[in-house]
Amino acid sequence: MLLLRRTTTIQLLCLIFSCLYLMACQDYSRNNRSIANAGSAVDKNDASRDVHSYANPEQIRVSHVHLDLDVDFDRKILRGSSTLTLQWISAGSNQLKLDTRDLKIIKAEASSDGTVFTSVRFVPGPVDKILGAPLFIILDQKVSKVRIEYETSPNASGVQWLNPQQTAGKKLPYMFTQSQAIHARSWIPLQDSPAVRITYSANIRTPKSLRAVMSAKQIPYLGPRQVGQSGYSFEMSQAIPSYLIALAVGDLTFKALSPRTGVYTEPVMLEKAARELQDTEKMVAATEKLYGPYRWDRYDILVLPPSFPIGGMENPRLTFATPTILAGDKSLVSLIAHELAHSWSGNLVTNATWRDFWLNEGFTTYLERRITEEIYGRPREEMEAVLAKRNLEKELKELKDPDELLYIDLSVRDPDEGFTQVPYEKGSLFLRNLEETFGRQPFDQFLKGYFDHFAFKSITTADFVAYLKQNLLDRDAQLAAKIPLDEWINKPGLPAGAPQPKSDAFEIIERQADDWLQGRIMVADLPTRDWATQQWLHFLQYLPQELSLIKMEELDRRFNLTKVGNAEIAHQWLLISIRNKFQPAYPRLEEYLTSIGRQKLIKPLYEELVKTPEGQERALAIYRKARPGYHPIAVTAIDKIVKSEKP
Ligand code: BES
Ligand code: ZN
Repeated sequence: MLLLRRTTTIQLLCLIFSCLYLMACQDYSRNNRSIANAGSAVDKNDASRDVHSYANPEQIRVSHVHLDLDVDFDRKILRGSSTLTLQWISAGSNQLKLDTRDLKIIKAEASSDGTVFTSVRFVPGPVDKILGAPLFIILDQKVSKVRIEYETSPNASGVQWLNPQQTAGKKLPYMFTQSQAIHARSWIPLQDSPAVRITYSANIRTPKSLRAVMSAKQIPYLGPRQVGQSGYSFEMSQAIPSYLIALAVGDLTFKALSPRTGVYTEPVMLEKAARELQDTEKMVAATEKLYGPYRWDRYDILVLPPSFPIGGMENPRLTFATPTILAGDKSLVSLIAHELAHSWSGNLVTNATWRDFWLNEGFTTYLERRITEEIYGRPREEMEAVLAKRNLEKELKELKDPDELLYIDLSVRDPDEGFTQVPYEKGSLFLRNLEETFGRQPFDQFLKGYFDHFAFKSITTADFVAYLKQNLLDRDAQLAAKIPLDEWINKPGLPAGAPQPKSDAFEIIERQADDWLQGRIMVADLPTRDWATQQWLHFLQYLPQELSLIKMEELDRRFNLTKVGNAEIAHQWLLISIRNKFQPAYPRLEEYLTSIGRQKLIKPLYEELVKTPEGQERALAIYRKARPGYHPIAVTAIDKIVKSEKP
C-alpha cells in the first residue's frame, strides 16, 4: 500500500514535470526567430532558430547581465549572483527560460523597481548532455529584473582552475573562462545564444594577491569585501553575445604596447610577451584603414598559461592567447591578427546561431590574411594561405559530406563539432573568390559597408546572402555569374574555381627537400638559416610519411629539432617522430604533451600515437600524467581519442 502510494506520487510528480517540460519545449521550438531575416540561399523559417539554447528571447529578452561573484580557489567555484534586466517582447509566456550547465541554483528573486527583490519560483529542467539544463523562472508580473543566486561546479566546462604548479610563476593559483561556443552557461545562468546581445557589468572578489581581468572596461570597485580580498569592477557598455563574456584571475601584470594596446601576463612572461606582440598597434591601425574604426576603445591581450585549450579567443577589449605563439621572432603572431580581426567580424557582426559560425571565422580568416599581408608582406601571407589550404584539403578527405558545408546542420550536435577548417578556410577562400572576381578595392568597400550596416547585430547566413546580392552581386550580373554562391554555401568540397594560393618560397623549399631526400645535397647544404617558421613547417610537412632512421638522425643532429622551442615546429617534428618511431624524441614528446594543453597542438599527436599498439600504450601512459593539467574541453576531446578510464 505504502509502495503503491509512493509510486503514484512519483508518477504524479513525473506527469507534472513532463507537462511543464513539454510546455517549455513547445515555446522553445518557436525560439529565437529572426533578427533581420531575408535572403533565399537558406530556409527562411528555420534560419535564425538557435537549436543550442533553451532560452525564449522572442518573449522575454535579457538586455543586461550584472554579475556579483566571489572567486573561491579553495573550492574551485564561483559563487554569487547574476542579475538579469528583462525586456518583455511579447505576451504569452510568464516563464523566463535560461541556459545552465552544472550550476547549483540557490535562489531566484524578482524586482519590478530594480531595488526591492522578492523570491520567485524556479524549476530546473532535465539535463541534456550537449545543452546542459534549462532553468524556468516563473514570473507572475512583468518584472524588470531577476536575480539568481548560484554556485558553479568545480568541473564547469567553461572554467579552468590551475594549481600554482601549472602557472609560469609556480606560486599562485590561476583561473580563466572560455565561453565560446556554449560554455558561458556553465558559469552564468543566462540566455546563452549568440542571437541575444547584452551589455554586462561585474563585481568580482578575489584573494588579495590576485588580479581579475574581464572582456570589459575596468572601473573603480565600490562594493563590499572581506579581509584578505581584493575587489574589481567591470563594465561592458556595448551589446555583445554571451559567448564573449570572459574572466581571468591570476598573478597578472600589465605592460602598455601603445596608448590603446597592451599585454597582461604573469610577471615572468611579461617582457617576452611584450616583445613578441610589439606590432599590435600597427595591426589595429592597418585593420582600421581597411574596414573602419576600431570600436572597442582598448585592445589588450592576455597571454595565458600553456593549458589554455585553444590558440586564441577574441574576448572584446581583451584577446585571450596561448603562450605557444611566443616563438621569439614574431613568426606566429598572425593569431593576434586573427583575434583582432574578430573585433569587426564576430564581435561587431555576430553569427546569430552556430550554424552561421563561418560568418565569424571565414570572414576573420580572410581579414587575418589581409592584416598579415599589410604588416609582414605578401610572401608571408602566401605561405600562410598555402599551409592553411593544404590543411583544409587534408581535412576534407576525412570529413563526411554534410560537415563540409559552410551552412552546416548542427542540430542535435555539439557546436564544437563545427570547429573544423571548413568555416575558417573554405569561408575565407569564398571571400577571396569574391575579391578576385570583383577586384580588391570594390570588395574592400563592400566589406567596410557590411561591417557598418550590421554593426552590433547578430545575423544569419541568409542575412549575409541578401546583403551580398544587393550590394555586390546584383551590381554586375556578368561578374556575379562567375560566383558559384550556392556551391560555396550549401555544397560539400570546394568549387572548381576556388582560389589557389601559391608561394614561391615554398616551391624553392620543395626542390631543396627533394635534393636532400635523393642524396644530391647534404643536410648541411639545406639553406635553413633564412627559413621562417612557415618554411620549416612546409619543409617538415613535405617530407614523405616514412623517413629512415638515418634521415631522422641527420635532421635532428643538424637542426636539434627535438629540442626546438618553437611550439609549431616542435609539433610537426614530434608528429614525424611518432610516425617513424624515432625514439630519441620520446622524452620530448612526453614533456610537450604534459606542458601544453592547446588542442590543435596535442590532438594530432595523440591521434598519431594511437594508430599502433605500442603508441596506444605510450599515449595512455603520457595521458595519465597530462590529463589533470588539461582544460575540461581538451579532456573531453582527448578522452575520445585515448579512450582512457578516468584515473
Ligand atoms: N573564436 C575562435 C575560437 C573558438 C571557436 C573557440 C569555436 C570555441 C569555439 C578563435 O577566434 C579562433 O579561431 N582561434 C583559433 C586561432 C586562429 C588563428 C585560427 C584557434 O584557437 O586555433
Ligand atoms: Zn576565430
